[in-house]
Amino acid sequence: MSEIDLQDHVDLVIAEVARAEHSRDLDAIESAHKAKNSPVLAARRALGAVTDEEQRRELGRRIQGCSDAITAAIAARREELSAIEREASLASDALDLTEVLSSAGSFPSRRGHAHVVSKTRASLEDVFVAMGFTIKEGPEVETDWYNFEALNLPPGHPARDMYDTMYLDLGEAETVLMRTHTSPMQIHLLEEAVADQSLPLHVAIPGRCYRLDTPDARHLPVFHQVEGLVVDKGITFGDLAGVIETFTAAYFGPDIHSRLRPAYFPFTEPSAEFEITCTICRGEGCRTCSKTGWIELGGCGMIDPAVFDAVGIDATEWSGFAFGFGIDRCAQMRHSIADMRALIENDLRFSRQF
Ligand code: DAH
Repeated sequence: MSEIDLQDHVDLVIAEVARAEHSRDLDAIESAHKAKNSPVLAARRALGAVTDEEQRRELGRRIQGCSDAITAAIAARREELSAIEREASLASDALDLTEVLSSAGSFPSRRGHAHVVSKTRASLEDVFVAMGFTIKEGPEVETDWYNFEALNLPPGHPARDMYDTMYLDLGEAETVLMRTHTSPMQIHLLEEAVADQSLPLHVAIPGRCYRLDTPDARHLPVFHQVEGLVVDKGITFGDLAGVIETFTAAYFGPDIHSRLRPAYFPFTEPSAEFEITCTICRGEGCRTCSKTGWIELGGCGMIDPAVFDAVGIDATEWSGFAFGFGIDRCAQMRHSIADMRALIENDLRFSRQF
């Protein structure tokens, strides 16, 4: 092949390279260029026949120039194509999140929401805040002193039988436990109030409690209470009854009332159980309320002077009341949940009703 022909060949190959749409096409052009029968290699082979050394060297340089031009054109086009191909693959692999979001209306994806117990707790907090209470929380792991002893339940006291307690094994037997009620917060808050001389107190304390109970329709081993604590000067049992009645009507509705029945709790004297109108039969009498028209919700009473003594408050100067009741029980009554175990089973068909 003459030099002119070789230049034509180079022009043809470069034009072909420019038209290549895919790196696969370039591979084909490149291997043809390197093949034994390629015009460039053929020209190189023909060099041996040129006898004039000067001429042969000059020709050799030109042939190399042609070969380099082809190689450079292929490399340049390869770079262009791979940039284009990379962009195309990015565009096709990209997730269009706006599409997923905007299709939510036709595609059945539902938003989650708070559990009915959390919602109940929030509503109860709202009621107590509206009545002038402050909301506080406390530890779920307690010592025997806070959970029992300071609440006038010394070791061996028969009333400890009311609480099937989960103890933690930290070396010394029966000293640290999962709180069986929210009442230990009474002691924490009274101690704090004494330390910073911040009496009076009007506090509501929601939180989780633990008892060694087998789950059944009305009990869970892990459950929730709200504790109420009011300490001021001249507080009477009438104030306690008024707060319970106001809270009952505010949370359950104006046709649901409360009543107090004498009971015993070591940390209050006098003590009472408080009951509310059965929310299932609205007081008519049904199976849920054993035909009485009333359902027990919690305990309450005037703070026992022994509790004031335990934290160093003068019971002749201050008086107060406390109450405690189940949040899960409130949810059960308000929403007519037959079996409390549904609250912990996490069956979406149940959760979605609230
Ligand atoms: N802590 C009691 C319980 O869980 C309920 C209770 C009764 C709380 C009387 C009180 C109270 O604050 O005064 O069984």
